[in-house]
Amino acid sequence: MNDVPETPLFQRVAVIGLGLIGGSLASAIRRQGLAGTVVGTDTRHDELALGVELGVVDEVADTVRDAVAGSDLVILAVPVRATRSVLEEIKPWLSGNTLLTDVGSTKSSFVADVEAVFGKWPANVIPGHPIAGSEKSGIRAANPDLFANHKVILTPSGHSDQDGLSRLRQLWEGCGATVLTMSVAYHDEVLAATSHLPHLIAFSLVDTLAGEDENMDIFRYAAGGFRDFTRIAASDPVMWHDIFLSNRDAVLRVIDHFTHDLDQLRTAIANQDGATLMRVFSRAKAAREHFSKMLSGQAYVTNNAEKQVTFRLQPGGAISGDIRVPGDKSMSHRSIMLGALADGITEVQGFLEGEDSLATLQAFRDMGVTIEGPENGFVRIHGVGINGLQAPRGPLYLGNSGTAMRLFAGLLAAQSFDSELTGDASLSKRPMGRVADPLRAMGARIDTAEGGRPPLKIHGGQQLTGIHYEMPVASAQVKSCLLLAGLYAGGSTSVTEPAPTRDHTERMLAGFGYHVHRDAATSSVVGGGSLTATNIDVPADISSAAFFLVAASIAPGSDLTLRHVGMNPTRVGVINILRLMGANIEVLNEREIGGEPVADLRVRSAELKGIDIPEDQVPLAIDEFPVLFIAATCAEGRTVLRGAEELRVKESDRIQVMADGLAAVGVETTVTPDGIIIDGGQTIGGGKVDSHGDHRIAMSFAVASLRAEGEIEVTDCANVATSFPGFVELARQTGINISSEGAE
Ligand code: S3P
Repeated sequence: MNDVPETPLFQRVAVIGLGLIGGSLASAIRRQGLAGTVVGTDTRHDELALGVELGVVDEVADTVRDAVAGSDLVILAVPVRATRSVLEEIKPWLSGNTLLTDVGSTKSSFVADVEAVFGKWPANVIPGHPIAGSEKSGIRAANPDLFANHKVILTPSGHSDQDGLSRLRQLWEGCGATVLTMSVAYHDEVLAATSHLPHLIAFSLVDTLAGEDENMDIFRYAAGGFRDFTRIAASDPVMWHDIFLSNRDAVLRVIDHFTHDLDQLRTAIANQDGATLMRVFSRAKAAREHFSKMLSGQAYVTNNAEKQVTFRLQPGGAISGDIRVPGDKSMSHRSIMLGALADGITEVQGFLEGEDSLATLQAFRDMGVTIEGPENGFVRIHGVGINGLQAPRGPLYLGNSGTAMRLFAGLLAAQSFDSELTGDASLSKRPMGRVADPLRAMGARIDTAEGGRPPLKIHGGQQLTGIHYEMPVASAQVKSCLLLAGLYAGGSTSVTEPAPTRDHTERMLAGFGYHVHRDAATSSVVGGGSLTATNIDVPADISSAAFFLVAASIAPGSDLTLRHVGMNPTRVGVINILRLMGANIEVLNEREIGGEPVADLRVRSAELKGIDIPEDQVPLAIDEFPVLFIAATCAEGRTVLRGAEELRVKESDRIQVMADGLAAVGVETTVTPDGIIIDGGQTIGGGKVDSHGDHRIAMSFAVASLRAEGEIEVTDCANVATSFPGFVELARQTGINISSEGAE
């Protein structure tokens, strides 16, 4: 509970209407000491008497006049349809300095009532709506904790009194709520969908069943599902009758939407159309399971900005065991993309259940693709064919994933419908001109925000034409984007890369039966073909294995085996570089699975030495540099990295953020525009490292702890879940002394 403030926020608060919400708010304000006096009034005299008896208010007033006069805050907590007459009543007793707010579920009607009574919307009237309640009503149900951890929406106007707004916000926060502000119209749309419609359906369903002849039996046999679904049908009829009549237009819109969708399900059942039922149910199941996450982002991927995870690492330790790290992120994205566009059913094993690849999966569900799973890495995708995607209802939210956004840009540029791609704070800063520009050259219409940043607004219905593109930067994302657009373009689309980059798109397209012509540095596709479903076994991600390769190399006495690691030659830069530094890595059981080389890796500790990292290895180890910098710190002698300016536009500026993190634990480095110089052999001390929300930075400093001399605390680690769910457990299991605070 919050401490009781010394000077209350308000001298005297009048609560008009002592029902569930009014009573709960009055008692919360009293308990938190947010007002000198809380006075309550209600036309129901027995409620009023109970108000004092239950300690909900300090005083009661018999008339509205007695309550309002002298109050610096007046809270209207009456049924929505009573608002206008209560406003008429209080108007003569309100002073210009009194703040007036309400708690009603519809905001347009409140503002309309205010305008009708006052002739305008005065600056000191700030509408509010706590998203909290209960099917119980009346003051007996009042509960001072009702608003704790709930949201309260305030809908000020452009000319609202800012000081009043800030004090009202503090009042609600003092009651434990989180305060959001939005426009009146938006509030009513959102509430119509999330609250009003479900209540309507619950009332209607119970009423329908109660009217059936066998209603006794129906209710007798009604099990948990019925109870769960219809709990809110016991809500106060007067209040809800008011809400529906007051929010008529928004509610009608959402009812129409719902009846249209319900009708589609009816048709599907009538026609024995199992595919439609599967599509809708699996999309809904996924959405419901990730409900709380959906509240913070737009799809079920997490908006990690809201989660605070800190890693705490005790120094020292050795690494041992036999482990398999999660599936390859790049291949997981592509397996969903190509599976969705294929004809037939694609089954995927080893799919990475990290937030990035889940964002891709959800985006396809949003475009009408039925996807079962993921369950323990197994996913079944019911492909819709190359032209079978449907327009999503809203923006596709891609979380932290640059790969998803860039590959989707190519794929969506050629669709018949418009789409919008959004992401989290980190993704929103990343350059998208590198894909938008060549796509425009193919005939796409794409709007970006300033500086070529997300969101991307893609205008559908454009006929694309193949181009030849010489990529200025070595980027597999740009190459893949253009090849995906090329599937839909007239003629041939070819991309030449300045240095080899990961070729999973080319390999997987071939696996789906789509011919990719490869000639040295150039890959090309001819548009107009189709993809045939196939099964995919995603190997363990070498980028995740990299943390353990370095960990076992630098921690004395280590011996670790990593199973089923993807060994695509365009990805093995980390092994090449570590071996050049003297690492002891054995490659065992080399095999090929589904067109991708795979092996087991045994790594034992070794005395590493500093090297000049060959520039041709940079694109082949592009994601592994953060942890390679830790290896360099533990090596003897100097390591120099050049030609890696791309690191500055990853999930963070990985050159600067790593240099800052190393400095925080006492390691000096020299940062250059395109790389870094690290003199090995320096002592890694304890300290606090800010990972800047970058998953690979966070995990790199977890590895550094093995050779540290003090405790390392790494902040902002929630995004580790984008690529490596279960990292903390696996790291602990192999010998890193890690604990995590906050939810990973
Ligand atoms: C990826 C390509 C790389 C890499 C990213 C995944 C891919 O980015 O850093 O993590 O799956 O295509 P660039 O191609 O932009 O270098």
